[in-house]
Amino acid sequence: MKKVGIGLIGFGTIGAGLIKIIQQEKQVELKYVADLDIATPRSVEVNKSLLTTDANRVLNDPSIDIIVELMGGIQPAKKFILDALKNKKHVVTANKALLATHGDEIFQAAKDNNVYINFEASVGGGIPIIKALRDSFRSSDITSVLGIINGTSNFILSKMSLEKQTFASALKEAQGSGYAEADASLDIDGIDSAHKIAILSSIIYRTRIDMDHIYVEGIKHITLEDIQYAEELGYVIKPLAIANRDGNRLDVRVHPALISKEHSLSSVSDVYNAIYLCGNSIGKMMFYGLGAGQMPTANAVYSDIIDISGKTWTESSVIDDYSFTSCLDIKETAENRLRYYIRFSAVDKPGVLAKISGILGRCKISITSVIQKDRKQRGAVPIIMMTHEAKEKDIYTAIREIDKLDIIKRKSVIIRVED
Ligand code: HSE
Repeated sequence: MKKVGIGLIGFGTIGAGLIKIIQQEKQVELKYVADLDIATPRSVEVNKSLLTTDANRVLNDPSIDIIVELMGGIQPAKKFILDALKNKKHVVTANKALLATHGDEIFQAAKDNNVYINFEASVGGGIPIIKALRDSFRSSDITSVLGIINGTSNFILSKMSLEKQTFASALKEAQGSGYAEADASLDIDGIDSAHKIAILSSIIYRTRIDMDHIYVEGIKHITLEDIQYAEELGYVIKPLAIANRDGNRLDVRVHPALISKEHSLSSVSDVYNAIYLCGNSIGKMMFYGLGAGQMPTANAVYSDIIDISGKTWTESSVIDDYSFTSCLDIKETAENRLRYYIRFSAVDKPGVLAKISGILGRCKISITSVIQKDRKQRGAVPIIMMTHEAKEKDIYTAIREIDKLDIIKRKSVIIRVED
C-alpha cells in the first residue's frame, strides 16, 4: 500500500523530533524537509536529497499528501498553509500564534478545499487536549477553563518556588532545555498563553476570540518574596490562563495567580501543563502532561499525521468542528469580582495599617488576613493583605490612592487569587 507522503516545512527542534519518530515508525514517507538553514547539523540525520530551502517545491509536489508546518510565526507560515490547503493538501501545524490570530481564515480555507487541518501540538505540548475537546465535548457544558499552558513560565515559577532560584537563572535554564520560544518574551509576558487560551476557548465556546480582547499579564514582576508570602498563606503562585463563561459574556485572561495548595493545579510544576475544565454535567476534570519539549510535542504532531492518514479521503469531509456558532461578548477584567493578594511597602510607624485599611474600606474592600513583617527593607516593611471578593475596578482605585500616601515607599504589588 502506498505510504502517505509528508512534506515538512521548518527543521527546528520539533521538526527534528518528528523526523526521529517518522524514521522509527516507518508508517509514512518523508518526501521533503524545507528550511532556510539546511547546513547546520541537527539532532537527527536526514538524507541530503530530501533537504531544500524552497518551500514551494514542497507545496507543489504532487506526491505530498500532508504538509507539516513547524516554522512558527505569522508570515510566511500563513501563506504556506493557505497555499497547501488550496493545493488540496492536508495540513498539520503547531503554530499557535497563527491559529490564534488568523484561525478563522485558515479553517475556512480548509473547509472550502475539503481537507483536514490538525493542530494538537499548538496547545499543551504532548497533552491530547485539542482532540479531546473536538471529539468528546460537543455540548455546551463547559463553563470554565483554568490552564497552566506555558511550560516556560511554569518552569520559572516552580524553580523560584521550590529551589529559590532567581528569575533570570530559571529563564536561562528553560531556554537551555529548549522549552522557551525563540523570543522568550512571548513566554514570560503571557502572550504564548494568550494564543493558547484563544484557541482552547474558541473550540470550547465556539466563538471567535479577538486577541486584543484578552487581558494579558506576564510573570516578570513576581518576586521570591511574594512566592514565599503566598506560601505562608497556604498558596502557590502559578501562571494561569482562564476562560469563564458568564451568561452571554466570556471572561478571558492570562496572569499569574495565587491558587490554594489544595487545588489540583497547585502541584503542576516544572514544564508540565494542565488544563482544568469545569462543567455542569462533567463536574471537574484535569488534563495533565508535558507542555513543551522536543519529543512530547513531536509526538502530538506525529499523531495528527496518523490521524489524517487514517481517514477515508474519498468521503465528503466537510470539517465543521471549528465553526463559530455562538457570539459571546468579552467581559471587561475590571468588572470581575475576585480575591486579591496585595503587598504594600510601607514605613514602619503607628497608624500605617489604619490609613491603608481606611482607604480599602471606603472602596468597599474587606480584608481577610494581614501579615506585617518586621524585617526592614530599605526603610520600608512589607505588609501583605488578602482581601475578600472585591470588584477589580475598586481594587485599582484603592491602590492608586494608597500608593500616593507618603507612608508608602514603593508601588504596591497586586496578584489575583483564583479559588
Ligand atoms: N514556549 C512554549 C512553552 C512551548 O513554554 O510552553 C510550547 O508551546
